[in-house]
Amino acid sequence: MPTASIITHSLTKLYGSLTALDSFDLEVDQGSIFGMLGPNGAGKTTLIRILTTLMRQSSGDASIEGLDTLRSGREIRCMIGVVSQENSLDRYLTARENLELHARLHGMDKRLYKQRIDELLELMGLAGRQKDFPDTFSGGMQRRLVIARALVHQPRVLFLDEPTTGLDPQSRRVVWEYVRSMAGSMTIFLTTHYLEEAEQLCDRIAIMDHGRLIAIGSTQELKDRLSGATVYEIEFAGQEADRYTTLLGSMPCVVNIRRLGGKVTVTLECWECLSEIVTALNGAPVRRISLQERTLEDVFISLTGDKVRE
Ligand SMILES: Nc1ncnc2c1ncn2[C@@H]1O[C@H](COP(=O)(O)OP(=O)(O)O)[C@@H](O)[C@H]1O
Ligand SMILES: [Mg+2]
Repeated sequence: MPTASIITHSLTKLYGSLTALDSFDLEVDQGSIFGMLGPNGAGKTTLIRILTTLMRQSSGDASIEGLDTLRSGREIRCMIGVVSQENSLDRYLTARENLELHARLHGMDKRLYKQRIDELLELMGLAGRQKDFPDTFSGGMQRRLVIARALVHQPRVLFLDEPTTGLDPQSRRVVWEYVRSMAGSMTIFLTTHYLEEAEQLCDRIAIMDHGRLIAIGSTQELKDRLSGATVYEIEFAGQEADRYTTLLGSMPCVVNIRRLGGKVTVTLECWECLSEIVTALNGAPVRRISLQERTLEDVFISLTGDKVRE
């Protein structure tokens, strides 16, 4: 059994009358990459602020590597790296100086941090720009610099709050590569509203909304969980689609049916019903029957609704 790196129990945060976190229970395994998904305003940043000891909860408790966030703030801050939602770089320091300041704030020895910073600048593709000021960097470069800074003191737990929001696809992929390459050596907790990102990177994914945890599991578990129903697309040759739509639509095992031109999409109660469908289609000019894979996006929308947020 892996040990938990991050644990919360009934964690609650109120902003006046707004409940931003509502009795939140969570466990994140040591060394895993964990993704917290949720629409804007779900409470992701609030959760990260509490876990990184930047803010105190209203009630409940949280611990990082066994240390309580209320009692052991200083020890926790030494052992975590934080990439906040906004790039909080010092614009009057060069890229390298930003990293050096961070190292000094963590009490690192100069010999130690010099080499570490060299490595990180190299790793993040910023070595050539280390003497330049962050304002002259693109969004992707600034983000990489912030990630490098969070890694200087070799944290055991890394928090990334929407690390790739606003980045172009190339920069996003660069960040993904780094996150992947760090897998196993530290626990990574990231928030995102890019489903593809969570799917690509994370061992486990949780979906939260209105301050509550609404689903948790691997990508596959979340997809399976959505429902037992199975969706098939049947493609007809010629003009037969209409007639068969009526026929299939009258069958009790068909939960839902839609037709678009020669293609009919049927949702079945369970996959065992497929044989009934095939029997009913006997003699029909069927060109193809294919299973429609559910995407994480289907899961997300079905759990959080399709209304636009904040
Ligand atoms: N400092 C604050 N004061 C009052 N309300 C806040 C504050 N920070 C966040 N909120 C509200 O709390 C809810 C959760 O916000 P947040 O944690 O930032 O969500 P997310 O990061 O998922 O977008 C939102 O409704 C937001 O408007
Ligand atoms: Mg946020």
